[in-house]
Order: sequence, then C-alpha cells, then structure tokens
Amino acid sequence: EWLSRFCLPLLRWYERSARVLPWREEPTPYRVWVSEIMLQQTRVSAVLPYFERFLAALPDVASLAGADPEALSKLWEGLGYYSRVRNLQRAAQVIMEQYGGEFPRRYEQLRALPGIGDYTAGAVLSIAFNLPFPAVDGNVLRVLSRVCADKRDVTAPALKREWAGLLKTIYPEGRARDFTQALMELGAMVCLPNGEPQCLCCPVRESCEGFRLGLWNELPYKPPK
Ligand code: ADE
Repeated sequence: EWLSRFCLPLLRWYERSARVLPWREEPTPYRVWVSEIMLQQTRVSAVLPYFERFLAALPDVASLAGADPEALSKLWEGLGYYSRVRNLQRAAQVIMEQYGGEFPRRYEQLRALPGIGDYTAGAVLSIAFNLPFPAVDGNVLRVLSRVCADKRDVTAPALKREWAGLLKTIYPEGRARDFTQALMELGAMVCLPNGEPQCLCCPVRESCEGFRLGLWNELPYKPPK
C-alpha cells in the first residue's frame, strides 16, 4: 500500500527531477554530515558556495579535526550559528580518537557525537550509508501531515519521533539514500508552506488525504500562540 502508492511514485519523481547538488553527487559520510549541518539553519543556495570552499580547505575528518580554530571560523563566517562549526570540529576529533577517523555507522554512536541529533544521525545513515533511518525535519513533517491529513499539533516534540517510527516501516528496500532525500525534496520543491503547495505537480497527489479533503492550507496544524 505505502510502497506502491507513495514510495515508488515519489522515488520515480525524485530520479527524474531532483536538483543536482554537490553532496548528492558524491554522498560520502563526511560530505553528507557537513552539508546537513550547514543546511540546518541556512538555505541551499546560500550553503552551496560555503560547502565547496569548506570541502576544498578541509577535505576529510582528519583535516577538520586538526584545523586551526581561527581558520575554521573564517570558513564559517556569514553562515551564523557558530556553535555548529565548533561542534563539527569536536565531533571530528572524537571520530579520530574513538573511531580511527572512520565514520561510525551505528545510530547510537552517531547520536552521541557533538551537534548530531536524531535528524542528522538519520540523514547520515540513510544518505551516506543507504541504511533505512528516517530524517524528519520541518519539511518532512509538513509532507507527512498533509499526506495523512493529520491535524495533530505539529510543534509537539513527540511527533517527529512518531513519524520517524512510521517511516522506518515503509523505507523501500535498498533505496534509503534516495527515499530520505526524495521526502526532503518534495517538501522543498512541491509541498510548500504558506498556502502555496504545488499540488498539481505533486507525484503523490493521488494518495494524499490532505489533497483529497482540500486541507492543504490547513496543514500542518500549528496551534495559535
Ligand atoms: N535540506 C536539508 N537537507 C537537505 C539535502 N540533503 N538536500 C537538500 N536540501 C536539504
């Protein structure tokens, strides 16, 4: 049911129309991790030049772990939220010391690194290692609340974990890398917020309860402050 009605049409759409992005072309753990940290508070177009410059200066975990903190701040200057880059370096140092420079591939190991929460751990495991771990951010929450016409308060902290639990059961075999990014891509390009979702171009419109019920502008539901 989920597979044929949702996952496969979404994957076919992603193969056809995904944006070409540098961390997608070569999804090594290091590149995926750095990209996801940069993308957390910053839009793709703003991240692109920073990502290329950062990777050119610090191409691997070892060079990040040993980087001069001043030079590191310079590479991040303008991106903001500087705790992100401090955590990046601390995590790189842990990966060098505890894992001999090899990215760990267990969820609990990743989750224990500075700056890596549920979202980033899931993103690295699925996008870099092609393992079936969901990465639920605001975009993915919006997609799921609409597809399922779910009117629960989207700001409730427990909701991300619940959706992650559902997603884990529907990950298509061997397609984790593309499936995680297809969900993000749908949220970024089609299932847009602010009353402007592009439902007529949506590859999963036919299985979207929110569309069927005409609720695309009511969802995701946020309670009044
Ligand atoms: N936003 C967060 N993660 C992303 C990714 N991997 N590709 C595009 N946009 C993103």
